[in-house]
Amino acid sequence: MNVLVVGGAGYIGSHTAKSLNKAGFNPIVFDNLSTGHRWAVRWGPLVEADLANKPAIVQALREYEIEAVVHFAANAYVGESMQNPAKYFRNNVANMLNLLEAMQESSVKRIVFSSSCTTYGIPERIPIHEDFPQAAISPYGESKLMGEKMLKWFGEAYGLSWVALRYFNASGADPDGETGEVHNPETHLIPLVIDAALSRRPPVQIFGTDYPTPDGTAIRDYIHVTDLAEAHVLALKYLLEGGPPTAFNLGTGQGHSVLEVIAAVERVGGCPVPAVEAPRRSGDPPALVADPSKAQRVLGWEAAYKSMDQIAETAWRFAISRKQ
Ligand code: UFG
Repeated sequence: MNVLVVGGAGYIGSHTAKSLNKAGFNPIVFDNLSTGHRWAVRWGPLVEADLANKPAIVQALREYEIEAVVHFAANAYVGESMQNPAKYFRNNVANMLNLLEAMQESSVKRIVFSSSCTTYGIPERIPIHEDFPQAAISPYGESKLMGEKMLKWFGEAYGLSWVALRYFNASGADPDGETGEVHNPETHLIPLVIDAALSRRPPVQIFGTDYPTPDGTAIRDYIHVTDLAEAHVLALKYLLEGGPPTAFNLGTGQGHSVLEVIAAVERVGGCPVPAVEAPRRSGDPPALVADPSKAQRVLGWEAAYKSMDQIAETAWRFAISRKQ
């Protein structure tokens, strides 16, 4: 079965293309390579095109006789979205609408969508359940929420079958080293910590040491990217079996502070991580941790990478395999 992986040259998209291929699907990557990488397209053909170009989407859907879509393509920097909301609504909302319309025109009825825990904003408590209020606090989060809403209404009106996967903090790299995390600019904690340990960058800044958490630093639920990729395969199978539209949180259910992440990298790398304290980054909630029980119950999904050290180890190996 041919599956269009929109944004499949990116971090989570490329890992998912690998998992789809392993599960017997044919991933056809649709990507404009604005943030993705040609080297990360290894498990099927690349259609190099932009979601702004609806005829190109229709052509890809028809040429490859696509039966389902997995949609990753988006801009994903919270800070940038505060400065330039237009970019986020254009790329993440208007272009996604093109994709949904192209699917409708081509009678492609199934989609798995990359959503985010950012859609919850600042939760009243943790762990976060899927039925918590979604109250995004950035244009990025809002754009993902609008994506979910478009799916809901396309489902109601046109019978679109969809699953929205709300990721917590994607992290780590393919254990075989075939793909991994390369962003430009890099803003994510784990690659920055590793680069600081390897002296490829200045000491990592610890954004906030006065949070109401046990060690004062912010807590996140770091979920291995291969576990995320496997969840997409399960979500696709769920849709193929006729499962109704719904959303799932994808996390481990365990939170780790910034200091705990740094300590994990020090253990796996066997060297100290130069770090400096810095003020809080604006818009960062103190703690985001998933309740992943719905995905476990309905999809049979469970994170295989359960410890921070396992996650950090795959990220470390990928980082040192890359020449700098
Ligand atoms: N952090 C630092 N120093 C850094 C970078 C990050 O202390 O140099 C801290 C952040 O303040 C945060 C934690 O490390 O507490 C994780 O930060 P990331 O930037 O790695 O991840 P975020 O939690 O900010 O963002 C991620 C995704 C977003 C998504 C968001 C949902 O990158 O796309 O999760 O919460 F929207």
